[in-house]
Amino acid sequence: MTDPDLIQAALDARANAHAPYSKFQVGAALRTAAGAIITGANVESASYGLSCCAERVALFKAITDGHTDFTAMAIASHGGASPCGACRQLLAEQAPAATLHLIDSNQPETTTETTPQALLPNAFTGDQLPTDD
Ligand code: THU
Repeated sequence: MTDPDLIQAALDARANAHAPYSKFQVGAALRTAAGAIITGANVESASYGLSCCAERVALFKAITDGHTDFTAMAIASHGGASPCGACRQLLAEQAPAATLHLIDSNQPETTTETTPQALLPNAFTGDQLPTDD
């Protein structure tokens, strides 16, 4: 199902990226089952490894504001980039049922759809972690 408002939100969020080093601006927008939209953009650091992708910024904002049940995420960048490995892990854990819309900011009317499961099959879910009992 297309979600024009979500796609527009990701395109708009991209304008707030802080990407002075890579110059690669990414915007992300999450949709919840309750109808909310939560956005994020990538934030880079002068200590490059501390930079955070748009997808994780959006997920962390949403989770810490109490949102749950993510049904979709739109991700906008030049060329419609696919999420990195770290973001795939977070999406698999926090938004396993979400449809992912990859958007080329130069051609936003054409989107590519995928899922966390397709991007990261057999993801680590934490099931093997020790419990107290
Ligand atoms: N980046 C994202 O925000 N999301 C992606 O899906 C791919 C990469 C960011 C990280 C870094 O700030 C810049 O793009 C170049 O890698």
